[in-house]
Amino acid sequence: ADAAVVPALVIGTGYGGSVAALRLAQAGVDVHMVEMGMAWDTPGADGKIFANTTTPDQRSFWLRTKTKQPLSNFLGFPIDKAIPRYTGILDAEEFAGITVYQGRGVGGGSLVNGGMAVTPKREYFGDVLPTVNPDEMYGTYYPRANAELGVNMIRSAWFETTEAYQYSRVGRKHAQRSNFPYVFVPTVYDWNYMEQEAAGTAPKSALVGEILYGNNYGKKSLQKTYLSKVRATGRVTISPLHRVVSVVPATGGYKVTIEQLNTNGDPIAVKEVTAAKVFFAAGSVGTSKLLVKLKATGALPNLNGEVGRGWGDNGNVMCGRANHMWDPTGKLQSSIPTLGIDNWAAGGAFAEVAPLPTGIETYASFYLSITKTPNRAQFTWNPAAGKVDLNWQTAWKEVSINAAKSIFDRINSKEGTIYRTDLFGVYKIWGDHLTYHPLGGAVLNKATDNYGRLHGYPGLYVMDGSLIPGTTVVNPFVTITALAERNIEKIIATDL
Ligand code: FDA
Repeated sequence: ADAAVVPALVIGTGYGGSVAALRLAQAGVDVHMVEMGMAWDTPGADGKIFANTTTPDQRSFWLRTKTKQPLSNFLGFPIDKAIPRYTGILDAEEFAGITVYQGRGVGGGSLVNGGMAVTPKREYFGDVLPTVNPDEMYGTYYPRANAELGVNMIRSAWFETTEAYQYSRVGRKHAQRSNFPYVFVPTVYDWNYMEQEAAGTAPKSALVGEILYGNNYGKKSLQKTYLSKVRATGRVTISPLHRVVSVVPATGGYKVTIEQLNTNGDPIAVKEVTAAKVFFAAGSVGTSKLLVKLKATGALPNLNGEVGRGWGDNGNVMCGRANHMWDPTGKLQSSIPTLGIDNWAAGGAFAEVAPLPTGIETYASFYLSITKTPNRAQFTWNPAAGKVDLNWQTAWKEVSINAAKSIFDRINSKEGTIYRTDLFGVYKIWGDHLTYHPLGGAVLNKATDNYGRLHGYPGLYVMDGSLIPGTTVVNPFVTITALAERNIEKIIATDL
């Protein structure tokens, strides 16, 4: 085993980890980032770094021999297919009652997500992070996060005319006719670039359906924003295909045990590093699994009883509607959603009008709803199986389905349309088996203090979505980024 000492070690390279690494490096601290996924900086045999959604291959999934697409069926037929096992980009991690989709690689979820960059309405912020001062968030940290992430809006004249957003215009029309407020959703896709794609003057990415397995061009993932600044500091080392498996107190800080992986997911070396400070930024699931295991197995026994608790799915539920022939949604659908239906106040649902980029006319409207749900699950250590379980129940999605119905039952009744039953199985309306938005497990001001310092262990911090107790009311990454900006500023000012 190698021996080395680092001032700060960051576990994971998603939003929380990238913010922490940048601000620490800018404050003069040398940082080591450890990432279990790949670097995603080298083109494959087809000349592209990332695979297209329509042609999944080994790059598409984390250690699976068959794809597990969120929409598993089309016209009732299963669409998953065999792929070689590989350390691919999208993890469909299965717990007993829910499949949690996550990004794997340098950039975390920013590699695979839809790029929707939404700041929650201030009036709901108390439901998101009740112990955080909203003045600071809306005055300083949300603006900082939005600026660093490169958040921008679609040009309205282009939206109104482009073929690629016919599906959103149909979604808007149906929302309006049922008297639902709709909003344009800001994103981190470079809209100027997308207009060039449409004009045929730049290689296509969103307009050929790239999204779930990575965007080759227009999306400003963390690789292009925070992580490019991280590299420019010259103070940060990033180790891809390295997975943290243990953190224990040691002289000078914490001894961190790291497994190096090959692209088959097998450990090929074990390394030990002593770090003065360790920042857990492995995502809600990754951080929760590590902390729960380390507490239960005696590595970090003084972590408190809040560790593993307060996990939620952001109320995610998906559905499709079958439109009339006079409401085609278009053969060409941009993979980046940019319109949402807001029925939060009355029905507890915020629905993104999402694409179905199949390349053919489907006459379908497709939606990802974020809903208000009281259900929270807990991670626990299962000693017999040697793994961490999550006690989420599939039936808990009933609340979310009902909230989503507050929008779509009304639209269906107004339009004289019905739900699609062919997208998640045979005669199955609701995509209620999954989430894209895992949140919680090391909740702020419970498992940690009000700035992410883990109780019981000075020098251990949580920086990611596990701090947020189960909901962000809208899509989460702007809030995760803004909270990380707030916390790391305090930690640098007081703990270094
Ligand atoms: P994040 O998951 O980004 O990063 C954690 C990193 O740690 C990962 O790279 C992981 O591989 C690594 N890791 C885990 N365990 C480790 C270990 N033991 N050792 C080393 N590394 C480890 N949000 C939004 O706001 N708008 C949107 O449009 C979407 N759309 C969307 C689509 C899809 C398909 C998904 C899967 C997700 C979204 N999201 C989204 C959600 C968003 O991507 C998510 O909330 C954030 O990426 C979470 O950021 P974190 O910093 O918490 O962790």
